[in-house]
Amino acid sequence: MYKLNGLVTDEFDFYKGNDVFELIEKYGSPLYVYSEEIIRKRCRELKNLVRYPKFTAQYSAKANTGLAFLQIVKSEGLHADAMSPGEIYAELEAGFSPEDIFMIANNVSAAEMQYAIDRGILICVDSLQQLSMYGSLNPGGKVAVRFNGGIGAGHHEKVITAGKKTKFGVGPEYIPQVKEILKNYDLKLVGIQQHIGSLFMDVTPYSEGSKAILEIAKSFEDLDFVDLGGGFGIPYEKQSGQKRLDLKDCGEKLDRLFEDFVKEYGKEISFRIEPGRYISAESGILLTDVHCVKHNGPHKFAGTDAGFNVLIRPAMYGSHHDVEVYSKEERPSNEEIISIAGNICESGDIIAKDRLLPEIKAGDILGILDAGAYGYSMCSNYNNRLRPAEVLIRENGETVLTRKRDTLEQLLENYVKLDM
Ligand code: LLP
Repeated sequence: MYKLNGLVTDEFDFYKGNDVFELIEKYGSPLYVYSEEIIRKRCRELKNLVRYPKFTAQYSAKANTGLAFLQIVKSEGLHADAMSPGEIYAELEAGFSPEDIFMIANNVSAAEMQYAIDRGILICVDSLQQLSMYGSLNPGGKVAVRFNGGIGAGHHEKVITAGKKTKFGVGPEYIPQVKEILKNYDLKLVGIQQHIGSLFMDVTPYSEGSKAILEIAKSFEDLDFVDLGGGFGIPYEKQSGQKRLDLKDCGEKLDRLFEDFVKEYGKEISFRIEPGRYISAESGILLTDVHCVKHNGPHKFAGTDAGFNVLIRPAMYGSHHDVEVYSKEERPSNEEIISIAGNICESGDIIAKDRLLPEIKAGDILGILDAGAYGYSMCSNYNNRLRPAEVLIRENGETVLTRKRDTLEQLLENYVKLDM
């Protein structure tokens, strides 16, 4: 294997001596490959974000729900959030205990709430009606409420989750109604939560958002915790020198907020964060085979098997993922402008548009970087394509298959044929 532009994976020693051509030969293309070392490193960075002692990082499992992934995160001592019974199920299977799981429910059914209640999992509700629903299912129980402090942030309008334009959270103007419902059902409000959105690289919106939710917290007596949500960004453009999020600055700002709040509130409550992307994005690379290279007028395309069924972020949000080019034999880089397309029959099936990259040839393998968050977890079988296998590179360099590729039979498994 020869890397034509492998600076990023070299710096992380991502493949630990494994040859991507051999991995693809063994597990097929496309293929998600993860680095255990990077998962653990990112977990530790966020677990130790602040000096304040009562602090928990809850991994936001929606970013990557792989069982092995969850097991590693659990072994690092993080807790986990869950949006659905499916995420709870996976987290319990991965070894999280019910006390370590926090269900952040949005528009869930009574049956879904009951699923969490039956397993002793704390629920955070997202509207007055859902608070009443919870009260009628579990009167006298403990509950948390998601507030919308009005400050949103994120890399795309689809992932900004606070502010008046979004469906999330309860506005502070409804605090009296929240109190009323809590009283009617004899519920104990143990915590409040917010999530301003996904991906900030500058700490300001997160610290401003945190101030807003801490203001709301002062309206409630005797809380056990405030959850500030996730959104910690990663540099998707490392090949162009993009800097990392300044975690030191972030931690210091949060520590100051926590100290001031605790002094005024008169109780040493806990603080939680809910990072998904930061823990998982950089640990995953999507490997894809180049099947064809062609021109359409002035535009050059490399045709791969990384369709948007496999990684939807570029098609869905216009997201950027750096690309590395790997060839079997050494050859000059000869950079040129090229777009990387998938194998789905839609023109929007472009994983990287007009990029300056080393010349790509059929038979090369491309590494789509930073694909560990919202990559596999948003995969689909569109065009009846098989979702890829997932492989983990252990800290000692060994590779383990952690999820098998779909099979053709699985595609039809749940269908019921007509009698004809
Ligand atoms: N907490 C809640 C309540 C959330 O809704 C989310 C993400 C997180 C935590 C974790 O956010 P993170 O730390 O990963 O930014 N599919 C999009 C991102 C959607 C985020 C949804 N909510 C993407 O590929 O960029």
